[in-house]
Amino acid sequence: MARRKIIAGNWKMNKTPSEARELCALLAPLVKDADTDVVYCVPAIDIVPVVEAVKGSNVEVGAENMYIEEKGAYTGEIAPDMIVDAGAKWVIIGHSERREYFKEDDAFLNKKVLKAFEHGLTPILCCGESLEQRESGVTLDWIRLQIKSDLQGVTKEQASGMVIAYEPIWAIGTGKTATADQAEEVCRAIRECIAEIYDTDTAEKIRIQYGGSMNGGNCKELLAKPNIDGGLIGGASLKAEFAEIVNYNK
Ligand code: PGA
Repeated sequence: MARRKIIAGNWKMNKTPSEARELCALLAPLVKDADTDVVYCVPAIDIVPVVEAVKGSNVEVGAENMYIEEKGAYTGEIAPDMIVDAGAKWVIIGHSERREYFKEDDAFLNKKVLKAFEHGLTPILCCGESLEQRESGVTLDWIRLQIKSDLQGVTKEQASGMVIAYEPIWAIGTGKTATADQAEEVCRAIRECIAEIYDTDTAEKIRIQYGGSMNGGNCKELLAKPNIDGGLIGGASLKAEFAEIVNYNK
């Protein structure tokens, strides 16, 4: 059975609630006939307005981050239940910007993954290597280590429904994209790693995205690869170009 592609925008820290509504209005007519799943991952403060703006459409909403506790004295953090109650279904976990700027390590990210599942949120788990790692030839080992650590305790049923985003750090926001072959090589290795941890059935079901300067121009070639099941889109998700990716096969 073919995996359905999933195109997710990662808006990062870019849109105020009013701007978020405007972007939803701009994109609504452009993405409505998508043959792919479409998700907007938005800043916490935009979740409620964006859920409202996409109500009744084919678009689902995700958070960009989440804390690991249920509630309490964690000033500034967002609990899983808050995200669920606001109407989001997805949550990005372990984006390289969270790993780098907020020092989130794999042990912590594993807790986030488990907590997301506990609350019925589906994680989009990010992994990826730095330029130094790629140049020194440790990319695949590094990615396997990230996946194995971040998925500890995740059941095969849970893994089957989740999304892993392969995002080489050197390609994020730099305009430098991994070639389709480079991206495919790592996405295939991720699928093999999932087969090792679980089984081939789970590996066939899990969806693996590529992220890192994916745009209207390069999406077709990337999305044609057998192990690339979608994209996690930063810069290009903030404009009409996002719809070109969503409609890549039209
Ligand atoms: P980019 O970001 O498309 O701007 O490179 C992708 C991401 O960080 O998810």
